[in-house]
Amino acid sequence: MRKEITLDCPATVANLVCGFDILGMALQDPCDRITMRLRDEPGILITHTDSYDLPTEPEKNVAGAALLDLTAALPGPAGFELEITKNIKPGSGLGSSAASAAGAVVAANKLLGEPFSRHDLVRFAMAGEKVASGVKHADNITPCILGGVTLIRSIFPLDIVSLGAPPLYVTVVHPQIEVRTSDARQILRKEVLLKNAIRQWGNIAGLVAGLLQGDYDLIGRSLEDVIIEPVRSILIPGFDEVKSGSREAGALGGGISGSGPSIFMLSKTSNTAHEVARLMAGVYQRIGIDYKTYVTTLRQEPL
Ligand code: HSE
Repeated sequence: MRKEITLDCPATVANLVCGFDILGMALQDPCDRITMRLRDEPGILITHTDSYDLPTEPEKNVAGAALLDLTAALPGPAGFELEITKNIKPGSGLGSSAASAAGAVVAANKLLGEPFSRHDLVRFAMAGEKVASGVKHADNITPCILGGVTLIRSIFPLDIVSLGAPPLYVTVVHPQIEVRTSDARQILRKEVLLKNAIRQWGNIAGLVAGLLQGDYDLIGRSLEDVIIEPVRSILIPGFDEVKSGSREAGALGGGISGSGPSIFMLSKTSNTAHEVARLMAGVYQRIGIDYKTYVTTLRQEPL
């Protein structure tokens, strides 16, 4: 049995514009790094090597909470020592909490000889998301663990589907402002107009079909959100400019990454993806907000 493991746990884009809480995809970059060792004594010890000052008590830490759930499902006691280096900034909208929670349970499962299924691991990692945002949702965790694009058809009971997808370049801009997931959820309306629901499920079906058929135009047309984006985009300065400019630069489309403030755009080619990054940088330089951009690709490999 292995005694130590190091994993690079990828950032993820939840929602994929139209699929609030049900769609997500994994990115090649950035990744959190987790090193885990089995301990002879029971208990969970967490250290961070970054400067985010995150809690290290297991029940308050997203990775710790996920591990507590996993430990409770073991037949006997277990102990883990965990070193986390976060490269995905908490509160960026890039699945920072999911990367730590998913990485912790996948690492533990590997060290223990894989007693749990991938579905079990998604369930355990959701306990971490609850610590981070107050609700159990799996649209970041699932692509982080399984790779690719994933659909959460249902959380209770858990029903997840891996969707095939053509190669995609992803450009992300992270304006350095804070949008808390819990706040970005609270401002949402609880009811939806039927005409908006019809448009939204047309887009979700179109996006899924476009991904499966490798139809880039259909993917682009379907990246439209008439329910969540109009409310949340108000929290993100420069959003409309980034979106329209990126389309003009040749991006297929995109929108808010998870609950924001990061914005992502999909492109068919590396050149377009870099052009989009330049456009995004220009917007935030003009507005005077610090930002970070990433040009990366969809990550197909599981964690
Ligand atoms: N689906 C979630 C949301 C993702 O948009 O609130 C949060 O990371």
